[in-house]
Amino acid sequence: MLSEKHNDSSRNPLLMQAARRLIEQRQTEEAHDPVMLARRAGFEPDAWQQDILRSSARQTIMLVTRQGGKSTVSSIRALHKAEYAPGSLILLLAPSYRQSKELFRKVKDAYAALPSPSPLASESALEMEFGNGSRIVALPGKEETIRGFSGVALLIVDEAARVSDALYQSVRPMLAVSGGQIILLSTPFGKRGFFHHEWTEGGALWHRTKVTAHDCPRIPPDWLEQERKQIGEWWYRQEYLCEFVETVDQVFRYDDIMRALDADVQPLFGSHS
Ligand SMILES: Nc1ncnc2c1ncn2[C@@H]1O[C@H](COP(=O)(O)OP(=O)(O)OP(=O)(O)O)[C@@H](O)[C@H]1O
Ligand SMILES: [Mg+2]
Repeated sequence: MLSEKHNDSSRNPLLMQAARRLIEQRQTEEAHDPVMLARRAGFEPDAWQQDILRSSARQTIMLVTRQGGKSTVSSIRALHKAEYAPGSLILLLAPSYRQSKELFRKVKDAYAALPSPSPLASESALEMEFGNGSRIVALPGKEETIRGFSGVALLIVDEAARVSDALYQSVRPMLAVSGGQIILLSTPFGKRGFFHHEWTEGGALWHRTKVTAHDCPRIPPDWLEQERKQIGEWWYRQEYLCEFVETVDQVFRYDDIMRALDADVQPLFGSHS
């Protein structure tokens, strides 16, 4: 009969060494491939999500359907940067505190899903601090309360089309000296604001990704058809087809107004000669 000592593999130095080597090898591979981290957190990224995870672009802009998976993939980018770039400051911004905390919750969920996460130094409702000195911080959507951060390694702006230009202009300088990365993710919200501008005229410095509901394997076509009838064409084109349709306050399009003023339209008063 084997003794308890021989049965206990954790006390076998050779096995311990082999296990350590395997973990180190996995960490080295995962450091270069964030897709592995996503898989370890329990989900298989879509092809476009893999592309986002593996991109080293300094500026990334995602124009993605509702429920397409843009916040999820961004949360893995945040987690990967924190784990594998010690001392990184990662900021999460959205139009409101509630929305940036929502993104932060996704980061926490992904972290909690890891089978063997690296230990945290501290954790609160708005911030995670890792043992390696990295921090992930959820920011309030108010310009006056977020100034003061510097050395930002990664800035993630969720629902970016609804973030004000003033807020965007106030956070961009945080990347100036650090040479950090920025990720903008959103569904469109009219032909206005910095998100529309960066998407259409921001130049070649942006890595652009567009994903409509038809490209998302988790949105069934028959459900989509139903939704189209339910919410109407305008919202459908914006939320699911990712079109920069005219904003609600521009519902009367310039062309339509000009047509309405056409000679065909009879004036209510005046001569009918
Ligand atoms: N690759 C994937 N495999 C399985 N489920 C996924 C994948 N990507 C995202 N999901 C799931 O799809 C749902 C929507 O994801 P997420 O919240 O990231 O989308 P979103 O584009 O940010 O949506 P919204 O526009 O509503 O904020 C979530 O339940 C998420 O867990
Ligand atoms: Mg989202």
